[in-house]
Amino acid sequence: KNKKIKELVDKAAAEANLSKKEIIYLLEQDFSKLDYLIKKADQKRKELFGDEVHLRAIIEISSYCKQNCHYCGLRKDNSELERYQLEKEEIITAANQAAELGYKTIVIQSGEDDYPAQKIAEIIREIKHNNDIAVTLSLGERDFGVYKLWKEAGADRYLLKHETADKKLYQKYHPGMSFENRIESLKYLKYLGYQTGSGVIIGLPGQNAETLAEDLSLLKELDVDMVGSGPFIPHQNTPLKNSRQGTLEMTLKFNALSRLLLQLTHIPATTALGTIDDFGRQKALQAGANVVMPNVTDSKYRRKYEIYPAKICIEEQAADCRQCIGGIINSLGRFVSTERGDSRKIKTG
Ligand code: 5AD
Ligand code: SF4
Ligand code: FES
Repeated sequence: KNKKIKELVDKAAAEANLSKKEIIYLLEQDFSKLDYLIKKADQKRKELFGDEVHLRAIIEISSYCKQNCHYCGLRKDNSELERYQLEKEEIITAANQAAELGYKTIVIQSGEDDYPAQKIAEIIREIKHNNDIAVTLSLGERDFGVYKLWKEAGADRYLLKHETADKKLYQKYHPGMSFENRIESLKYLKYLGYQTGSGVIIGLPGQNAETLAEDLSLLKELDVDMVGSGPFIPHQNTPLKNSRQGTLEMTLKFNALSRLLLQLTHIPATTALGTIDDFGRQKALQAGANVVMPNVTDSKYRRKYEIYPAKICIEEQAADCRQCIGGIINSLGRFVSTERGDSRKIKTG
C-alpha cells in the first residue's frame, strides 16, 4: 500500500498529472500514511519558489453582502451581524499603511456589496498612483463591464473562489447564484489580463474525495495563478451551523496535491486553517504553501467581518499581524519576500 502511495506521489511530482481515480485514492488515505505526499509537496515548493514567502495584506472594506451562501457568516439573512462599509479615504489610508509595513500586495475584499464601481476604480487609481504595490480585488461577482473598468483602473489580480466544482452542491449552497456564471467570470477575468485566484472550501457537507478530485481538475483547466483552500468552519447564524467542521488533515492533503498538480500556482496558508489549528498556517507552509494573507483592516471593524467564528487576529492591529507573520515565517527557516510576487505563470510577449 505504501508502495502505491509513493508511486502516485512520484508520478504527480514528475508529471503534474494524475487521473481522477489516482487523486481519489490519495485523498482517501489516512493522513498518517501521507508523510511522503507532504514531503514531496514541500520539496516542490522549495524547488520552484525557494524559501521566499509572499505576503498579501487584506483590507476588508465592507461586510455587506446580498448573497446567502449557506456556510458564511456574512450572508444577507444573518441579521445579528453589524455591518460596516469603509469610506474611500479609509481604504486609501489602509493601503498606504500596508505599503509602509512593507507589503507589496494589497487585497481589497468584501462581501457581495454593491460598492459603487466608479468609486472602486478611483480607489484603485489612487492606490496605484501613491504606491508601487500590486492590487488584488476580492469583491465577488460583478457585471463583466465592471471587471473591465477595474482592470483599466490598474487592478492586477482578482480572487473569486469557485468553492466547489460539484455543480449540484454549488447550487445547493449558493441560492440565487450560478455555477456557470462563476466559471465564466473566472475565464473572463483571465482574458482581461488579471492574474486570477480561485479556491475551495474543504469539508463542506456532501463533499467527498471525488468532488475534491473534480476541484483539482477544474483548477488545472482554469490554469489559475493562485488557489486558496481552507477548511469549512460552521457558523452559528447559518443553515450549516450543525454541520461538521472541515479537517486540518484533508486541507493539508488538498494543498499538497495542489502544489504537485498545479506546480507554479501560488498557494496561501489560509487564515481559516490558522483558525482551526494553532499551527495550521505553519503546517500548510510546510505542505506546499508559499503565501500568507495577513489582515490590515482597522481593529475597530475586524469583529464585524465574521465569516466564521473564532477567526484569528480580531484584537490585533495591522502592525501586530505583520510582526507575528514575519516571526512565523522566520521560525520555519523561510523569509518574507521583498518582491510583488506576481504570477510565475505569466509569460512575456
Ligand atoms: N468556513 C470557511 N470558509 C468560509 N468562507 C465563507 N464561509 C466560510 C466558513 N464558514 C470562505 C469562502 C468565501 C470566503 C468569503 O470565505 O471560501 O470565498
Ligand atoms: Fe457573501 Fe461571499 Fe459570504 Fe457568500 S461567501 S455570503 S458571497 S461574503
Ligand atoms: Fe494576526 Fe498572527 S497574523 S496575530
